Amino acid sequence: MTMDYESNNWIWDGVYNFPHLFGGLMLTAALLGLSTSYFGVIGLPHLPYLRSDLGIFYKKKRDKKRIRVYMDGCFDLMHYGHANALRQAKALGDELVVGVVSDEEIVANKGPPVLSMEERLALVSGLKWVDEVIANAPYAITEQFMHKLFNDYKIDYIIHGDDPCLLPDGTDAYALAKRAGRYKQIKRTEGVSSTDIVGRILSSTKDEKACGGHNDASVKGDRNESGSKGAHLSQFLPTSRRIVQFSNGKAPGPNARVVYIDGAFDLFHAGHVEILKSARQLGDFLLVGIHDDHTVRYFYLDALILNQFMVNCKHRGKHCPIMHLHERSLSVLACRCVDEVIIGAPWEVTKDVITTFNISLVVHGTCSENNSSLAGEIDPYSVPKSMGIFELLESPKNITTTSVAQRIIANHEAYMKRNAKKAESEKKYYAEKKYVSGD
Ligand SMILES: *[C@@H]1O[C@H](CO)[C@@H](O)[C@H](O)[C@H]1NC(C)=O
Ligand SMILES: *[C@@H]1O[C@H](CO)[C@@H](O)[C@H](O)[C@H]1NC(C)=O
Ligand SMILES: *[C@@H]1O[C@H](CO)[C@@H](O)[C@H](O)[C@H]1NC(C)=O
Ligand SMILES: *[C@@H]1O[C@H](CO)[C@@H](O)[C@H](O)[C@H]1NC(C)=O
Ligand SMILES: *[C@@H]1O[C@H](CO)[C@@H](O)[C@H](O)[C@H]1NC(C)=O
Repeated sequence: MTMDYESNNWIWDGVYNFPHLFGGLMLTAALLGLSTSYFGVIGLPHLPYLRSDLGIFYKKKRDKKRIRVYMDGCFDLMHYGHANALRQAKALGDELVVGVVSDEEIVANKGPPVLSMEERLALVSGLKWVDEVIANAPYAITEQFMHKLFNDYKIDYIIHGDDPCLLPDGTDAYALAKRAGRYKQIKRTEGVSSTDIVGRILSSTKDEKACGGHNDASVKGDRNESGSKGAHLSQFLPTSRRIVQFSNGKAPGPNARVVYIDGAFDLFHAGHVEILKSARQLGDFLLVGIHDDHTVRYFYLDALILNQFMVNCKHRGKHCPIMHLHERSLSVLACRCVDEVIIGAPWEVTKDVITTFNISLVVHGTCSENNSSLAGEIDPYSVPKSMGIFELLESPKNITTTSVAQRIIANHEAYMKRNAKKAESEKKYYAEKKYVSGD
């Protein structure tokens, strides 16, 4: 565990100390995102090990060659299940290289992705366990790409989850790596999938329609098709151990400048990653307050009030948030630039919160979810504003939870088709799921 924290610190500090460099690399990835034939790589800057709490640089002794592991994925609607898989993959080596499958390959193999390559890259490279990202990785590891991984990227092992990954011709996608003796497996444990999340969003819109008094029978019929009824029930079982695994386990150092940002962080997206990075740069320790489900329901405009029909049917917050408090907390904790979270933060930033955590600065992004009509009555930031420690932060990206949900709804037919296909294998997976020890 201690090892784990140590080996991650350098990346995190690197981003903090070289934000421009990191930003530049991200841009490169975004440009590479336009090309399909080229496998772009983003390396985080090579830095000596840094220790912010001592304020000195030191380099670890490297007696052994560092083991480099590779894991790939689409990472569309990235969630804490992906993060946990990458955490486990990282534990099988010293450096984790992650391949992010291109938009075109996702379209060809699964249907349209919700998030663009650039957005998926931002999410993956924001994770504390990820050392390098390869943009536009192929969906299936071809012999040519495998050799590229071994020779150019110096990969020692290819990692995949224990769910079978079959190519269209029915063969095992990882057969080559297995034959080469360079394959390792991790256990899929988290009760969430992108399919599940799309299902939650689609079934929310259907329930909204139902509450508007539309023909109930047609709603039920639709729901069967989408296979989303079961997906509506989260399989997530939060444990304290998982939270510990995702945590840095560190308090702010002496004289640290603590920055506080709060929000729902629902459907964790690239906009969240970017605003958290910006906030982190304003201090030494980033504390993130995550509003509980009740607070989100009460204070935020329903994330799914997306068209006139739903506005008319104002059962505010019935389906908001899409991800539960603990799910949202894990997604935020997985982020490299986050030091600590408050699981269930108060809506108002009180004097007590500021004193308890010795908060120096409270920030809020310019592009946030629309707050509710109550926002006019209660300014959650009146205390920090009166103390002169509030700052409005320019949001680097204008993407919001609502806009992501909107993409899915706008394209719901394609996603329903994609989900129906996926729901079958998900159902089979859960039916056959067995206890696995360890992670
Ligand atoms: C809907 O699902 C139920 C249970 O899964 C099934 O019995 C029923 O036949 C389905 N209805 C349609 C219209 O597919
Ligand atoms: C509280 O934060 C300030 C920075 O705003 C810092 O100077 C001070 O040392 C901190 N207090 C403690 C007890 O760490
Ligand atoms: C917020 O609400 C305003 C007015 O009600 C609307 O114009 C704007 O598009 C909304 N923003 C988002 C992100 O939903
Ligand atoms: C809520 O919305 C109003 C109007 O759009 C804005 O002036 C206010 O700053 C917002 N409050 C928060 C906490 O975002
Ligand atoms: C969001 O930003 C993109 C590019 O930066 C821009 O094309 C788009 O119009 C913006 N959307 C809104 C609603 O401001």
